[in-house]
Amino acid sequence: MIKESLQTSINGQINAELYSAYLYASMEQYFASLKLKGFANWMHVQVQEESAHAIRFANYINDNSGRVIFTAIDAPPVEWDSPLQVFEEVYKHEQKVTSLINGLVQIARQENDDGGLKMLEWFVKEQVEEEENAEEIVNMLKTMDGTEEALASMDRKLAGRVFVDPNA
Ligand SMILES: [Fe+2]
Ligand SMILES: [Fe+2]
Repeated sequence: MIKESLQTSINGQINAELYSAYLYASMEQYFASLKLKGFANWMHVQVQEESAHAIRFANYINDNSGRVIFTAIDAPPVEWDSPLQVFEEVYKHEQKVTSLINGLVQIARQENDDGGLKMLEWFVKEQVEEEENAEEIVNMLKTMDGTEEALASMDRKLAGRVFVDPNA
């Protein structure tokens, strides 16, 4: 049986993961409006990943005889100034999520919940990757010259990202 404090916090985290999916879906639509299909594809994979994170947390609660509770998801922003600004926001957002995951680890520690800690280890690692991916694209966009061709070449690169379901 999952401890009440951890269940409440994980339910909060499920909302945060679903918000992440919503935020990235909004970014996907921003890129679609710019006809940047590769950038939109990258974001679409991100939406799928965040949904998978929410499901992974929900599975954990259910596997431990708890109850998943959904709450309202905030509306995401809809406009950005540039692809660089989008990815700077992705990077900032992932850093925020990392601190939320660290908060869950602290609660699991306080509760001496080894199973919870083990489950959270996956997310700690995942956040390192999430931050790395976002930072890499921020750096690429910063060093890129501002030509249409450079953006198109980046778009082709991001078109190659494929979703791999981490819960499969
Ligand atoms: Fe996530
Ligand atoms: Fe994420």
